[in-house]
Amino acid sequence: MRASDFVRQERLWDRLMAMAELGATEKGGVNRQALTLEDGRARRLLADWATARGFRVYQDAIGNLFVRRPGRDDGLPPVTTGSHLDTQPTGGRFDGVYGVLAGFEVLEALEDGGIATTHPVEVVAWTNEEGARFAPTAMGSGVYVGKLPLGSALDTVDVDGVTVADALAAVTAMTPDAEERPLGSPVAAYIEAHIEQGPVLVTAGETIGAVTSIQSQNCYQIEIHGEEAHAGTTPRANRSDAVLAAVEAIAKLEQAALDDADAMRFTVGRFIAEPGSPNTVPSHVSFTIDLRHPDNAEINRMAREIEETIPECAEKRRCRAEVTCTSAVPVTPFAEELVDKVDRVRRDLGLPGRKMPSGAGHDAMYIAPMAPSGMIFVPCVDGISHNEAEDALPEDVAAGACVLADCLADLAKG
Ligand code: GLV
Ligand code: MN
Ligand code: MN
Repeated sequence: MRASDFVRQERLWDRLMAMAELGATEKGGVNRQALTLEDGRARRLLADWATARGFRVYQDAIGNLFVRRPGRDDGLPPVTTGSHLDTQPTGGRFDGVYGVLAGFEVLEALEDGGIATTHPVEVVAWTNEEGARFAPTAMGSGVYVGKLPLGSALDTVDVDGVTVADALAAVTAMTPDAEERPLGSPVAAYIEAHIEQGPVLVTAGETIGAVTSIQSQNCYQIEIHGEEAHAGTTPRANRSDAVLAAVEAIAKLEQAALDDADAMRFTVGRFIAEPGSPNTVPSHVSFTIDLRHPDNAEINRMAREIEETIPECAEKRRCRAEVTCTSAVPVTPFAEELVDKVDRVRRDLGLPGRKMPSGAGHDAMYIAPMAPSGMIFVPCVDGISHNEAEDALPEDVAAGACVLADCLADLAKG
């Protein structure tokens, strides 16, 4: 019998729907941002399911939460899977949580099948993958592997001035039964399951993507400082209008990002103007840039444009700019043997699919330099994600869990 024979679609789907209630929105999506009470409840629920099944639970200094099924040789590094439980503010029911629960379904399938593995198998819920409340994205996995310093992650504040340290203390207090685990403990191999978040699989009528790479991503926090002035009396020459400086810079950067192949992704997802009074010239703008491209050289070209264009546009309007790159992750190629394994297992299971790159970022990008890593994509309805309408089919999420089960069982057999 294969591990996938013990994957139960209904159990996985019921767990997904139970998690979707934590932070459920009126439009059918989920708002469960990192280190909120809802995130804490999701972590608590996962820990409850784990202990009910006899698995031990661990958490580290950044709150990454691990569920472990021991191996025959329990001193060996684990074969690990997982993803994240936090969502976008207008997120869906599958982005992130699917990878955690598909992994948990595999642990249960191994238990049900009485399948012993040589390596332990672990499921991890990485802290704050979305970066929506606290920048940057993939904070938990970045800190785990030492790419992001723990201290600066803990000092990060949200728009209300709450620190990661304070929010984390409140959330980890909800899982006091989780044993302490050091950051960066070795991993034998890592495979993350996720919805594709794009249209490729669904358009082709295919079920499984064996992910070959993740494109590069740079994230920026920009501050433009001008000066408040009366909207009715202040002539042009006397204004230091932070909004006009920001808008001009953004329009120029959008032009610089235009390419024939439509490969560059340039997004200003947050734009806050202050003091936010209709009849005062705005003195401060704070905005973000999310930049992605499959080619590191192109990201570096745009990075230079950002560093030059924003201060230029600020100066022109007698403003001052601060440009901070909060994270820069080059293209992540996945281990060829794992890409091949995912693709072979999906063929063995008779599932249509392909090898494909990822447009979205994932925690796997930080784990890949540390351990052989790969990813499994399943389709999402109409390719929609980061949207409350995000949806997926029960048979597709179960198919992804089956591929994950056979891959992990094979990697952990020793
Ligand atoms: C992950 O949510 C990403 O922004 O790619
Ligand atoms: Mn995700
Ligand atoms: Mn996401």
